[in-house]
Amino acid sequence: MHRTIEPAIHYWGTPVVLISSLNEDGSANLAPMSSAWWLGWSCMLGLDASSQTLLNLQRQRECVLNLASAANAEAVNRLALCTGTPQLPPHKQWLGYRHVADKFGEAGLSAQPSEQVAPPRVRECQVQLEAQVVDIRPFGTQDPRLPIASCMVELRLLRAHVDETILQPGPQSERIAPAKWLPLLMKFRGLYSGEREALPSRLAQGPEERYAPWKQRPAS
Ligand SMILES: Cc1cc2nc3c(=O)[nH]c(=O)nc-3n(C[C@H](O)[C@H](O)[C@H](O)COP(=O)(O)O)c2cc1C
Repeated sequence: MHRTIEPAIHYWGTPVVLISSLNEDGSANLAPMSSAWWLGWSCMLGLDASSQTLLNLQRQRECVLNLASAANAEAVNRLALCTGTPQLPPHKQWLGYRHVADKFGEAGLSAQPSEQVAPPRVRECQVQLEAQVVDIRPFGTQDPRLPIASCMVELRLLRAHVDETILQPGPQSERIAPAKWLPLLMKFRGLYSGEREALPSRLAQGPEERYAPWKQRPAS
């Protein structure tokens, strides 16, 4: 039996990415996000239009996608509800966000120089993908249930750095061993690795309905 429902969010399970980008003053920003997918060496991201990361990508047009595994869950949690934007937009104030200038320091992660782009990689992530922006467009403009201005960002991957422990055997191997790569997934704001919850997610504090103002019915 199926039940027809109206969930507040449709976060069915996508990999958590720590995306590094450059702020206007040349310092690095680092933000957790999970609306990401790949086709060939191209990638599509869905980003809140008010995020510092989007502003950085519009201006500097380079980033690194550092893919998180369960080992990075604590760092992801430390960056949850943080923004590099000094002036918080109203919806982020309402959700309990705060401004953090040094995201690498806040997360306890180390910056590693990239090879083809200016933003640094995250040394502690097993997968680091250097990328450049191809296109940025508005997203969801026809969707009355998407409460915030959003953008889709198309990236072209330039370089892939992968920890040897998740490669298939062989000195020249360029293939990932799927059984060894255990991505951290965001499912409905929860942080999961395999079937297990990696740790209680900070992002999941507060009711899910906060993400769906259209569900809030006026009191009768
Ligand atoms: C696990 C996780 C997944 C997230 N996924 C997204 C996402 O896909 N898109 C997005 O715009 N924000 C996402 N966020 C919220 C961003 O982290 C938030 O917009 C933050 O302000 C971005 O940082 P910045 O403003 O410094 O760029 C996610 C947060 C967490 C903790």
